[in-house]
Amino acid sequence: MKNIFVSLQKNIPMRKKAILLLLFAVFAVEAMAQAQYYQRYDWPWKWKGKTIVTDTPKRAKGQQHALQLHVAPMDTVRIAFVGLGMRGADAVGRYMHIEGIRVVALCDYEEARVEACQQILKNNNRPPAQCYSGEDGYRQMCEQEDIDLVYVATDWHHHFLVAQCALLHGKHVAIEVPSAMTLHECWTLVDLVEKNRLHCMILENCCYDQFELNTLNMAQHGLFGEVIRVQGAYIHTLDEYWMAYWKNGADDKLGWRLRYNKDFRGDLYPTHGLGPVAQLMDIHRGDRMQTLVAMDTRSFRGKDLVKQYSGEECPAFSNGDHTTTLIRTAKGKVIEIQHNVMTPQPYNRLYQLTGTKGFANKYPVEGYAIDTKSVGGALTGKYDNLSGHSFMTAEQRKTLEQEYESPILKEYYEKAKQVGGHGGMDYIMDARMIYCLRNGLALDMDVYDLAEWCCLAELGYLSLEHGFAPVEVPDFTRGHWQDIQGYRHSK
Ligand SMILES: NC(=O)c1ccc[n+]([C@@H]2O[C@H](COP(=O)([O-])OP(=O)(O)OC[C@H]3O[C@@H](n4cnc5c(N)ncnc54)[C@H](O)[C@@H]3O)[C@@H](O)[C@H]2O)c1
Repeated sequence: MKNIFVSLQKNIPMRKKAILLLLFAVFAVEAMAQAQYYQRYDWPWKWKGKTIVTDTPKRAKGQQHALQLHVAPMDTVRIAFVGLGMRGADAVGRYMHIEGIRVVALCDYEEARVEACQQILKNNNRPPAQCYSGEDGYRQMCEQEDIDLVYVATDWHHHFLVAQCALLHGKHVAIEVPSAMTLHECWTLVDLVEKNRLHCMILENCCYDQFELNTLNMAQHGLFGEVIRVQGAYIHTLDEYWMAYWKNGADDKLGWRLRYNKDFRGDLYPTHGLGPVAQLMDIHRGDRMQTLVAMDTRSFRGKDLVKQYSGEECPAFSNGDHTTTLIRTAKGKVIEIQHNVMTPQPYNRLYQLTGTKGFANKYPVEGYAIDTKSVGGALTGKYDNLSGHSFMTAEQRKTLEQEYESPILKEYYEKAKQVGGHGGMDYIMDARMIYCLRNGLALDMDVYDLAEWCCLAELGYLSLEHGFAPVEVPDFTRGHWQDIQGYRHSK
């Protein structure tokens, strides 16, 4: 370094010297930014006709896909929790009701939050966990040898950083939603899983809600005929919550979630809507998402929210108030996903299924409509005169749900109601993951689900920023989306 400056001083005229120093400074700042890892939409893409196509990195030589990945059964799953805010602390509490686990590490930026969770262990007569705190505590934590699974419930910026570190240290990972925010993060996680043969599960609890599980079971028994169109959403005004999210010091007036919405356009929280309907559609188990188009309203409320909480004018707010993404699959089916955390309206995840022989809808009105004449078989006699024109009666629905109750609910629902967590679905998700790990089974949601559900943010952004153009959805399995036929939970 010293030599460069000496030769600059001796041989180069003043103006050139200034330019070189400027370039050097830009390079240094860039290198520092890289080291800190700045989340942005920067994945390479190009136009193919009128469609945007993003790069699909080549699978490294010798690397295999990780579909149906299973690893040796674990007698006790030794868990490290990272991110102990509202969601992470709740998770620690829930795990006190799950057999075959030990909490061996607790980590949060804030030491007090770690201590509070240590107290949960103590209150439940569990041995104390190793404690880590500060920005880089998770890095030290990943050096701890007796960890099988790292459970990540941090803010969105740290999901990937913690998961990457854990996978590189040979630990399985489960990540809160959305587990990855950019295509770079999606592809890196896919490659890390394939290389290291470790699990990386998206913690999409909405796949375990009662209506969704029963409907999935009915669909798998053919009650709706061919499922041709589905809808899902995250419509939840966050006005009550913006200020409850973690703030990084006194100067951080917005908290991570409002700031993220200020800085990023696109559907930032697609997985509650997409996860359960992707399972209905057998995505990467016989079908795949092929092309999407996104459209958003402009941002109407964002700037005022920033002013309200920071006291400062907000020149630009990136996220539209309501974003809609339409996706066409390889088999010619359609998925519609919506996102709105801005305007006051009843909580809504839509969850709507249109089939060739029936229809199901969860929000805002729950119901099933099935054309029994065309379905025949199991339904004939029991539900005569159902035409599909209107929802079946409450009594008919009760009988149907009893007959087609999901085997997962049969197993877990009674206890889930006692433990709670979004009506029990959080507990079922956790209990299922631990069951699969303890029995050496493939997990319910794999890294390809994670990538497919989370890629909507950056792909949608590309569509929105380029006149709502069609964007190709990458095949994260790189050629293996038809190897498995039909979505099934491991048994
Ligand atoms: N599945 C669901 O239903 C659901 C519900 C709520 C939240 N979430 C997700 O859970 C995650 C957490 O949400 P939340 O509501 O608990 O937010 P929160 O703001 O309450 O908690 C985030 C935590 O991350 C910690 N953190 C920040 N930097 C860290 C670092 N370097 N190392 C360790 N910890 C760090 C913060 O100190 C804070 O305790 C988010 O991804 C959110 O989207 C999911």
